Amino acid sequence: MQKIIVVAGASGNLGFRIIKALVNKGAEIRVIMRAGSDITKVNELEKIGAKIYKVNNWTIHELSAACKGANCVVSALAGLREVVIDAQRVLLDAAISTGVPRFIPSDYSLDFTRFNYGENRNLDLRREFHEYLDKAPIAATSVFNGAFTDMLTNEMPLILFKQKLILYWGNKDHPWGFTTIDNTAEYTAQVALDNKTPRYLKIAGDLISPREVRVVASDVTGNKFRLFSPGGQSLLGLFIKIGRKLAPAETELYPAWQGMQYMHNMIDERSGIDKLDIDRYPEMRWTTVKDVLQNYINGNKQLN
Ligand SMILES: NC(=O)c1ccc[n+]([C@@H]2O[C@H](COP(=O)([O-])OP(=O)(O)OC[C@H]3O[C@@H](n4cnc5c(N)ncnc54)[C@H](OP(=O)(O)O)[C@@H]3O)[C@@H](O)[C@H]2O)c1
Repeated sequence: MQKIIVVAGASGNLGFRIIKALVNKGAEIRVIMRAGSDITKVNELEKIGAKIYKVNNWTIHELSAACKGANCVVSALAGLREVVIDAQRVLLDAAISTGVPRFIPSDYSLDFTRFNYGENRNLDLRREFHEYLDKAPIAATSVFNGAFTDMLTNEMPLILFKQKLILYWGNKDHPWGFTTIDNTAEYTAQVALDNKTPRYLKIAGDLISPREVRVVASDVTGNKFRLFSPGGQSLLGLFIKIGRKLAPAETELYPAWQGMQYMHNMIDERSGIDKLDIDRYPEMRWTTVKDVLQNYINGNKQLN
């Protein structure tokens, strides 16, 4: 029987790709969208076969209409407390009240379960949501994908293409987990369609250290990249404190200091990945850091 999957956050970057992956797998897709969501996104989603449930006030009652009879509710919401805790809670309660058996929270991050409150503002919100989720009568699965590989060519200051530097903090041999947004979306779609999945699933298209990134970047560009480290984890910690004081921007989702907190977690031994769950769906093809850089270079020949 065709599975029914509900997605919230479908107008977003990851959510939209989750829908596309679900369409390719033949699921019935129900999308919960706020009345004010981007209408072009609504039209696009309808065109690819998703059924849109528009909501005005994001109440349990409103969301329940979409959840009734579904196999899994997938959250791809993004925001701060009012989203990760408040809106996601209403979504979860709607799923529970209509008897949906499975829920995927909007985690899609490094595995924060070994970290403590206070180490990363955005991940703290997920942890707080988990406290509620883990007591709820529903089977939950978090997808831990490390960092989106796509960010290596824009937001993440690890590969400095112009300067031909790999800027890293801490241990140059510590492997970091990277997964593309598309791989994360496809894997999440597979998890949503699965019958039973563990509480946590860890994925990475690549596990790669700064020293290995240097080799890949040099290889792909044909230029010799050098490693450059301003210091270790404690210096980065100090920069985070200063950055947060000077430019708090607490209402922004990704202020500069939050990106640094993520980096601080990535280079921490506690984010080490002992086992990946990437073989769970054998048809999946994983994109490596090298693939992403090669694509980027192909589109930006002047960098060579
Ligand atoms: N690991 C990584 O490197 C990495 C990087 C980036 C993001 N992520 C994670 O990936 C997930 C998705 O992020 P994204 O970048 O795809 O997000 P995005 O593009 O900003 O989309 C956010 C979605 O959340 C919805 N939303 C926001 N506030 C809402 C509210 N109050 N009530 C209901 N819906 C609301 C938006 O709907 P509207 O259209 O109605 O506004 C939109 O569909 C998040 O968990 C994010 O933290 C991970």
